[in-house]
Amino acid sequence: MKGIILAGGLGTRLYPLTHATNKHLLPVFDKPMIYYPIRTLVRAGIRDIMVVVSGPHSGDFIRVLKNGKEFGIKHLEYAYQDAPDGGIADALVKAESFADNQPVTVILGDNCTDANIGKEVRSFKGGALVFLKKVDDPNRFGIAEFDKKDSSKVIGIVEKPKKPKSNFAQTGVYIYDNKVFNYIKKIKPSARGQLEITDLNNIYINAKKFNWAELKGFWSDAGTFESLYKTSVYWARKILGKRNERNLTRFD
Ligand code: DAU
Repeated sequence: MKGIILAGGLGTRLYPLTHATNKHLLPVFDKPMIYYPIRTLVRAGIRDIMVVVSGPHSGDFIRVLKNGKEFGIKHLEYAYQDAPDGGIADALVKAESFADNQPVTVILGDNCTDANIGKEVRSFKGGALVFLKKVDDPNRFGIAEFDKKDSSKVIGIVEKPKKPKSNFAQTGVYIYDNKVFNYIKKIKPSARGQLEITDLNNIYINAKKFNWAELKGFWSDAGTFESLYKTSVYWARKILGKRNERNLTRFD
């Protein structure tokens, strides 16, 4: 299993902070944001990782991540998304040759979670496995609609719905089989001009190759001022609490 972190986009919702550097290098408490998705992949046993970058601060990533050794990564590669805001699926397709026909675990660079997805990674059998999480603000996310007869079956996902059909958001954590890149090539740009991850996941749903699991533990994206602040507060409490109680440092 290979891992892909999507860290493109322009981070316009975080201007003026993102005039200075890329969104995924901004601090979430005591670490650059991208450390968190790296940790999620490495904890799941994934050591072969590609980071897809874009925009004016792309070079900053190498200064921060170098060759990834200090995070336990065996092999770190970078790809460049030429359309800096072309959409999440457009960023993912840049990793096609890196994936080399293997399944991939994909995580958005602004998604910070303490969930351990190792079990799902190890038992992945094909199709798509999308991690969902119950949220209070469903208008901000891609939201799942469930079958009325079988309440565990997802029949569609709607991106940022005005009238959400549930409170279950698709997080930015996905596992795909090697069909993913062919499916992305079928997607057309949305009204906002992006190749949407939601359209990709709906292709898997229509092909009856879609599975989901609940992401256990804390999860937040850190792409708005409010969510960036809340995410920092969560990690500050967790890390400082542990340091104070048991004198542990860093993540462990
Ligand atoms: O965080 C989960 C949500 O992420 C999902 O519920 C939504 O369905 C999904 O569309 C996405 O929504 P956002 O509005 O939060 O996406 P955003 O444009 O903020 O992009 C999230 C990350 O995806 C970003 O941190 C880096 C990567 N990305 C995004 C774009 C638009 C790229 O690598 N390239 C891109 O062109």
